[in-house]
Amino acid sequence: MKFSKHILPDLAASLHEQQRRTPLADLLLLADKFPDSAVFSTSFGIEDQLITHLIFENDLPIQVFTLDTGRNFQETYATWSRTLERYKKPIRTYFPQPAAIQNLLTDKGPNSFYQSVDNRKECCYIRKVEPLGRALKGKQLWITGIRAEQSPNRHDMTDLEWDEAHQLIKFHPLFHWSFEEVRAYVRQFSIPYNPLHDKGFVSIGCAPCTRAIREGEDFRAGRWWWEDASKKECGLHVHASQ
Ligand code: ADX
Ligand code: SF4
Repeated sequence: MKFSKHILPDLAASLHEQQRRTPLADLLLLADKFPDSAVFSTSFGIEDQLITHLIFENDLPIQVFTLDTGRNFQETYATWSRTLERYKKPIRTYFPQPAAIQNLLTDKGPNSFYQSVDNRKECCYIRKVEPLGRALKGKQLWITGIRAEQSPNRHDMTDLEWDEAHQLIKFHPLFHWSFEEVRAYVRQFSIPYNPLHDKGFVSIGCAPCTRAIREGEDFRAGRWWWEDASKKECGLHVHASQ
């Protein structure tokens, strides 16, 4: 059965009616409501590692996938390998269309994203947004590691929402968690995480487009740092107020 956005209030009520809400309880409830059509996207950031741990350790029927942009940090690829070794569960991988990448590199070279916002969005589209469309095809529930604290824009979102672009329900199990809470949980359960998080990197995307942040800087200040803050979403997460 295909759901529409009208199911959201009922779904939110079911989540709230639970005796004790935890990310695991929420995921169990939702996985049960969307058999064979729930997916979780990981970029191997610390929030994603926590959610991956919950899914794999509890054998939740949620497919885990990643979008390999081809430009990730070596530390991110190492975290990916360690995750496979630890859980021995598959992480489905989506790669950009070879022809699109070849044309981009031929026309504009390897670092066109520094030249303009349009060029940056073009690269993000080819390396992330188009593959995401393939990953979400036919799915009804998309789980992510988004937290409210990450940006003012995300603060205005809710943990359960309708994704108009992909026509599915989106859920962020750690939406109300702080970075410190995530970090403490990951340490408690010895969950593998990207070592860049210990070097001032909070939000980690592609290597050429991510830097560490300084004390007092916004969590996403290290992403596309050369751009105006209001333009700094890559197109994976587009919500109503944007
Ligand atoms: S982004 O839009 O700026 O790139 P961000 O890095 O904050 O997103 O990550 C938010 C969530 O988007 C992650 O928790 C993850 O669910 C998803 N995500 C981001 N990048 C990827 C990726 N390369 N592959 C899979 N999921 C991703
Ligand atoms: Fe390209 Fe940078 Fe976007 Fe990665 S983050 S897809 S390298 S523009």
